[in-house]
Amino acid sequence: MTKKDYESWVEKDKKQLHPTYHPKSHVDPLVIERGEGVWLYTADGQKILDGMAGLWNVNAGYGREELAKAAYDQMKELAFTSNFSGMTNLPSTLLADRLAGFAYEGLNTTFFTSGGSESNDSAFKTARYYWKRKGKPGKYKVIARKGAYHGVTLATTFATGLEKYHTMFGPAPEGFVHIPAPNPYRYEGQLKNGETIGQAAARELEEAILREGADTVAAFIAEPVMGVGGVIVPPDDYFPLIRSVCDKHEILFIADEVITGFGRTGEWFALKHWNVKPDILAFAKAITSGYAQLGGIQLSDEIRETMESAAESEAYMHGFTYSGHAMACAVGLKNLEIMEAEGYPKRAKELGSRLLDGLKSLEEFSFVGNVRGLGLVCGVEIVSDKDSKTADPAMAMKVFKAAQQHGLRSRPLGNVLAFSPPLSINEEEVDEIVKRLGAAMDSVV
Ligand SMILES: Cc1ncc(COP(=O)(O)O)c(C=O)c1O
Repeated sequence: MTKKDYESWVEKDKKQLHPTYHPKSHVDPLVIERGEGVWLYTADGQKILDGMAGLWNVNAGYGREELAKAAYDQMKELAFTSNFSGMTNLPSTLLADRLAGFAYEGLNTTFFTSGGSESNDSAFKTARYYWKRKGKPGKYKVIARKGAYHGVTLATTFATGLEKYHTMFGPAPEGFVHIPAPNPYRYEGQLKNGETIGQAAARELEEAILREGADTVAAFIAEPVMGVGGVIVPPDDYFPLIRSVCDKHEILFIADEVITGFGRTGEWFALKHWNVKPDILAFAKAITSGYAQLGGIQLSDEIRETMESAAESEAYMHGFTYSGHAMACAVGLKNLEIMEAEGYPKRAKELGSRLLDGLKSLEEFSFVGNVRGLGLVCGVEIVSDKDSKTADPAMAMKVFKAAQQHGLRSRPLGNVLAFSPPLSINEEEVDEIVKRLGAAMDSVV
């Protein structure tokens, strides 16, 4: 691409609004032309290691012919048919069957969406639906965590616990409540005498439930490893405690595994690390490794049974044009086959600890305050002072830009740089992430 071509393309690009857009921040965009494995190739000839697997989703890596062929074959046969009004299609049926009990035992029913926001929105509506069916229509609120990211529909925007997503879209709908997340590096809640962070954060949930009134709370939602909020890996005691608080007060537990699902953390689904099971599971992203738009929720058998016994006037009046999209589900099926054949959870566990060890070696830089991760999702927290842990987003941005110049793509999340590479990555490429980030940090110094 010549400079002139590039400039004309940038002019044309101004006709589209990009996600989370400000015109000032959308200058000199990277034009990605092609991808192969973990590598992205730009129109002006740069080769970049995609340390983020797109947006935490391209788990099988770029350029997979099998996935392209699955889409092509299904599109030729039947790209789409309505899944409404008593119709169905084969790929969505096969995928629902394949997913039954796959993530967690007892979650055997899937409702398909086109992405993570739709999945979480569907989870909230399903929780409300469930409590109405149970004769408790007053249970409608959702408790979420500060720093959480759950999407951008109106409901998921306000379930999200990041102020900047709210600022221009208020007033907030009623019924979304936020409590501190169990951040081991900087816990924002109050630690009482002798409490672990996990215990304190679980207590905050119980206190919020009691404050709001358990008879008004439908669900608690959490990402097992918080992504956009800065890659927060919870302490081991947190989720078992959360599960018992939810049970004690009859609150549904929604696991938002939009990032952590399908092998990312070293287990197929992340709550497995702590032997905990949700009532509703939200998934998206890696179900197709980003090759098609697909997400969904899985429901416990208990929720499914409450639907079975509903009167016709109480039907689940919820569904998207693309619920159970034939082509997307065919890609999902093929992608699952690839992920199983290539043993992604095991790879994520092994290569994740290699990546974490490598990134931890960068803690020798004065501005690297904390490095954490689980499987192949890691965060590098940048601070201006290690003792006071003062966040330094400006420095994080400098390192991010320098890394880009060294051919490494990460994602700046405030003062944290996130890494979540394709699970198809190999040892050499993992080492390359560490090497390039180290070189970027050197150049910033
Ligand atoms: C944890 C989590 N939930 C939900 C979403 C929203 O998904 P989508 O952008 O597909 O709507 C995201 C997106 O990054 C996410 O990280």
